[in-house]
Amino acid sequence: MNKSPNTLWLLYCRPGFEQDCAQEALRQARQQRPVLGEQPALLADSGYVVVALNDQSLSCRELIFARQLIRLHHTIAALPERDRLTPILAAIAAIPGNFGTLWLEAPDTNEGKLLSTFTRRFQPLLEAALREQGKLQDNSQEAVRPEPVEGSSVRMEKLPRLHIFFPDKSSALIGTSDPHNSAATIMGIVRQSMPPEAPSRSTMKLAEAIEVFMDRSEQTRLLRQGMTAVDLGAAPGGWTWQLVKRGIRVTAVDNGPMKGVLANHPLVQHLKQDGFKYAPRKAVDWLVCDMVEKPSRVAELIGVWFAAGWCKHAIFNLKLPMKQRLIALDSALGGIRKRLDDEGINYRMTAKQLYHDREEVTVFLTKTKG
Ligand SMILES: C[S@@+](CC[C@H](N)C(=O)[O-])C[C@H]1O[C@@H](n2cnc3c(N)ncnc32)[C@H](O)[C@@H]1O
Repeated sequence: MNKSPNTLWLLYCRPGFEQDCAQEALRQARQQRPVLGEQPALLADSGYVVVALNDQSLSCRELIFARQLIRLHHTIAALPERDRLTPILAAIAAIPGNFGTLWLEAPDTNEGKLLSTFTRRFQPLLEAALREQGKLQDNSQEAVRPEPVEGSSVRMEKLPRLHIFFPDKSSALIGTSDPHNSAATIMGIVRQSMPPEAPSRSTMKLAEAIEVFMDRSEQTRLLRQGMTAVDLGAAPGGWTWQLVKRGIRVTAVDNGPMKGVLANHPLVQHLKQDGFKYAPRKAVDWLVCDMVEKPSRVAELIGVWFAAGWCKHAIFNLKLPMKQRLIALDSALGGIRKRLDDEGINYRMTAKQLYHDREEVTVFLTKTKG
């Protein structure tokens, strides 16, 4: 007999990517055992999805389209306008255990942004009530600060986080996240500020990728002064800027011009060449690539670079303008895995749709010892 699903998961994603996010989560769950029962309907462009599972677990780190992973305990569909606090407190009281952090969140949409004044006002009220009841304990202040996914203070979070997600002012989705299996920032967003000297906004994509994919010690070890890099599709120079600011010498390959401080920078050699034909004379530490091309073509190029030993680490973008994004992505990442496996190369590869990514995902690939 079919058992109906008994666990609901709430995942945040970039608006417009709900289908991809849900499909990917369900696929991960199915790898453990079949997913039984009906799935909740998706709301297009809502910036979140709910999936229903049995006792399968999900791994946030391995999900590409999910920004956050929350175990959903209660949905309140009609919050009274005059007293939102009472029903929310009652729902929280029914969740076993205590929490270390309270995050009030809304979708990453224009409508969601309008809720920020409300959530800012509501937060201290709810927080005070939960502290009085003993449901909310010590580490909330520390964790509210946006920190990178593997940032040091985040590791110290012991208690689950409590999330109150408001799709709108009259409904609330109440859930919890495990600090070891979720993103450590509100809304799962690692925002970057635009450095005034950088020549393009794309610079924030590489800055975010570095924060999300590498912990502090790896950043220090892998991005050192004196290292070398190739940037394919470098113009006008936002990614190159992130590297040179860390003292890394960059060969920037692009027919377009490098702009601003990078037009004539002592650490930058600009080559007006085709990134698909360019081969370095000497191996470099890093390859970064942001060329607008088919994912399969970029994936093949990455495979060539690693197989030839031309680089040790790479961060690259896979553009996904097509309808069947998950299929195109699987095929590109699968192609890289096959090539590296065939070559006997040990590696770690992680992909994520970053906050600063649009119709694209960013991938980190690094050779490992064995
Ligand atoms: C999205 S932009 C890169 C932005 C850059 N990462 C930055 O931060 O400023 C894509 C770039 O790829 C370049 N491009 C596309 N195809 C290329 C190719 N085959 N060889 C070299 N550059 C290419 C384009 O000229 C364009 O400048």
